[in-house]
Amino acid sequence: MTWRASVLTLFTEMFPGPLGHSLAGRALAEGRWALGTVNIRDFATDRHRSVDDTPFGGGAGMVMRPDVVDAAMVSVADGRPLVYLTPRGRPFRQEDAKRLAAAPGVVLLCGRYEGVDQRVIEARGCEEVSVGDYVLSGGELAAMAVLDAVVRLLPGVMGAPASAEEESFAEPLLEYPHYTRPAEWQGRRVPDVLLSGHHAAIAAWRRAEAERITRARRPDLWARHVSAACAAIVSKSGTP
Ligand SMILES: C[S@@+](CC[C@H](N)C(=O)[O-])C[C@H]1O[C@@H](n2cnc3c(N)ncnc32)[C@H](O)[C@@H]1O
Repeated sequence: MTWRASVLTLFTEMFPGPLGHSLAGRALAEGRWALGTVNIRDFATDRHRSVDDTPFGGGAGMVMRPDVVDAAMVSVADGRPLVYLTPRGRPFRQEDAKRLAAAPGVVLLCGRYEGVDQRVIEARGCEEVSVGDYVLSGGELAAMAVLDAVVRLLPGVMGAPASAEEESFAEPLLEYPHYTRPAEWQGRRVPDVLLSGHHAAIAAWRRAEAERITRARRPDLWARHVSAACAAIVSKSGTP
């Protein structure tokens, strides 16, 4: 069955956008996944087609109404995971991309203004997901990032399955650096080991670089990597 994404948004014209190009675009054209958009405004009930209102408790900005958003959700809900993109959410990780790729598809809710009334998020059991510690003006770019990360994991989308296994985050490690021709460029040489043809030495160098870069740039990932490695040693030795 085709993996299906539905995006609830006030800006349906933004889609497929970048998802219509390159890997994701080719896969879309080949029918390896399907993308539908739902205009939340189509579910407004007043003559002004309002989707938002002022926040209870006061404060700046507007909040998307639960009744309007809920009606939009009901129009597509069919058991697929529901995801609300929000900077308040759990960080979106490669393991989430894998999990969603294994599901029949996803429904993504894009907020605007100050966000969506919390009651509809809770009532519908939406997962709250963030694409980073910064504030975008809407959920659409976040939804595109999530979809791009998921779609490339769908069967047949990426040329070489091995590349997904070696990429950053496949383990909690960033990837080693890449080099191509020319072997010397502006006085900078490619590391000799990569020209050696010695596969075991290349693998060891790449592993050491991945660990060095992860330790320096992402202490959080490094800590996860170390604790996973310790757990593996303990379970191998049979010691609790
Ligand atoms: C201007 S933001 C609202 C920010 C909100 N008032 C806050 O401070 O958490 C409008 C919408 O953009 C989306 N958005 C913004 N930053 C995001 C992020 N880092 N990850 C996922 N979605 C984001 C959400 O859908 C959000 O409802």
